[in-house]
Amino acid sequence: MIKISPSILSADFANLESELKRLEDAGADFAHIDVMDGHFVPNISIGAPVVKALYRVTRLPLDVHLMISDPAFYLDDFIKAGASFITIHTECVSNVRETLTRIKEAGIYAAVSIKPGTPADVINEYIDILDMVLVMTVEPAFGGQKFIEACLPKIAQVRGIIDAKNPKCLLEIDGGVTPENAPRAVSAGANVLVAGSSVFGAPDIKAAVSALRCGKGG
Ligand code: DX5
Ligand code: ZN
Repeated sequence: MIKISPSILSADFANLESELKRLEDAGADFAHIDVMDGHFVPNISIGAPVVKALYRVTRLPLDVHLMISDPAFYLDDFIKAGASFITIHTECVSNVRETLTRIKEAGIYAAVSIKPGTPADVINEYIDILDMVLVMTVEPAFGGQKFIEACLPKIAQVRGIIDAKNPKCLLEIDGGVTPENAPRAVSAGANVLVAGSSVFGAPDIKAAVSALRCGKGG
């Protein structure tokens, strides 16, 4: 029921193929890939050529989180790269609805993300066409930040909107997620958990993935 999508932002970038293999062996459901442009967020990570290379070496669905100002401009590159999910931010400059429609027309799951300061109700505008909503639980840009507890009521609000208007839509959270706080987020309504440092920083990543899924430590 709960899906785990480890963020490779905390993986060893010199050995991404073997890091993805470790995630497969650990029972991860998806691989979360953070794409940052140094403009929408104050950090630069990876782009479509790397996503394309990762697609060739893993069977995990690629959960691509675009933290970029103009996702519409780059969208075709990520569609061709092999993404299974593409998430764009409601705070971007592109036409969000049109971009989501293009994602869906390409046969890819379409998602919007909202930053901690963005209210839940903005998703009402897109909920009819969404496959997933991503609620950020840190300010996007860097791994290893602390989970913002104040986002929990917003997760519950998003859950309410999803249940009322599009119950099949997934609810993902991202940022500072650990086995300790995951049960609170799941109680609030999350069903896809992104985790970078609490997976790749763990001595046993298989145990970390199952602890996130089972809510151990909560
Ligand atoms: C933050 C990214 C996250 C990040 C999560 O901007 O969107 O996916 O890598 O890392 P942790 O789990 O370490 O907060
Ligand atoms: Zn992310």
